[in-house]
Amino acid sequence: MSQNLSYQSGFGNHFSTEAVAGALPLHRNSPQQPPLGLYTEQLSGTAFTAPRESNRRSWLYRMQPAAVHQPFRRIADGRLVAAFGDVDTPPNQLRWDPLPIPSQPTDFVQGLFTMGGNGDPYQQTGCAIHLYVANRSMENRYFHSADGELLIVPQLGRLRFATELGILDVEPQEIIVIPRGVRFHVELLDPQARGYVCENFGAPFRLPDLGPIGSNGLANPRDFLTPTAAYEDKIGPCELIAKFMGHLWVADMDHSPLDVVAWHGNYVPYKYDLRHFNTIGSISYDHPDPSIFLVLQSQSDTPGVDTIDFGIFPPRILAMQDTFRPPWFHRNVASEFMGLVAGAYDAKADGFTPGGASLHNCMAGHGPDAATFEKACTADTSKPDYIRDTLAIMFETRCVIRPTHQALESPHLQAHYSQCWAGLGRRFTPPGAGQPAGG
Ligand SMILES: [Fe+2]
Repeated sequence: MSQNLSYQSGFGNHFSTEAVAGALPLHRNSPQQPPLGLYTEQLSGTAFTAPRESNRRSWLYRMQPAAVHQPFRRIADGRLVAAFGDVDTPPNQLRWDPLPIPSQPTDFVQGLFTMGGNGDPYQQTGCAIHLYVANRSMENRYFHSADGELLIVPQLGRLRFATELGILDVEPQEIIVIPRGVRFHVELLDPQARGYVCENFGAPFRLPDLGPIGSNGLANPRDFLTPTAAYEDKIGPCELIAKFMGHLWVADMDHSPLDVVAWHGNYVPYKYDLRHFNTIGSISYDHPDPSIFLVLQSQSDTPGVDTIDFGIFPPRILAMQDTFRPPWFHRNVASEFMGLVAGAYDAKADGFTPGGASLHNCMAGHGPDAATFEKACTADTSKPDYIRDTLAIMFETRCVIRPTHQALESPHLQAHYSQCWAGLGRRFTPPGAGQPAGG
């Protein structure tokens, strides 16, 4: 497979690419005899009759059809969990230290650890939230999830995703999205890798409408990169692992499934550098709602209510005056799973470290810790604050995120997270009273 990376840009555009000149048929999707002895295969990611603006499919021209493999058989799921709600979901605020890198050889699929989720792939709604830790590349092993689209956020280590549609390299501060069903393998470009995965069972991620922001801003379509065609001409035993209805299955193959020589369409993997996000905020007073940090959304059937919002808290300048500048105290109907790619998060003085995670479910009170509050409510807001060298991410969901048993029992769960608010004593002083009690 070619190691020369070549990308096409744009979000949701129609792409055409061939790794060998003349491999892509012209003006026919399925000619009677495709060029160069290739087979034609359509891969659809939305209902055939979905509206044009949301319809996604690609035509693949490959050495052998995807159907050519031995029957799948069940294998152990490892630390992947499919059932959410097997244990009671606590209403508590939860926070975890980073998942340790394993000492045993572990590839990307073996290193998946399900933290929680909601909905299920059968209903095609909701998501699973996983962490991954890995210290070796997938060798003669390929993977796809029929359950959902994979939004992968590296926190440590660069990864090479070789997919049916081409190669994408990603590093921390970038994301990659692999559509449901697309086969790929992951090569580590550094000794260790760790990150976050949102497996989206519902509608594919899309860019949000911008409303009064106008035609530019937040994540701009031109910054999304899609691979050009690249293939493996490889004969020999390999494994195709499928995630299907929450469980892992494996099929033996005698050739690489990455044998697509040309393709065209808009159902494609893509990457995006979060450093290109055009952050928008208040330049007078107060904060906009955190929806202003929205990168991608998976829409539900209810207008304005997303199944999943992927948001980020990137470096930015806080200019609001007479305003409490960190995120305020809040309780939301939505549920928030957060991760930290780099630096520090401006609502917490400590305890939330890169690779760690937090979960604030529906109506769980949370916000700045006591140390952050004390600092922010006496800060000089006549001058801007420059928040540098940070990147926090959030998977925000409509439905409660139900942590798995292994996440709740994990040694990396912080036992005393809620104590970060214990110092927020009573400050209320009625007019004419003396000093506040406590505090
Ligand atoms: Fe929050």
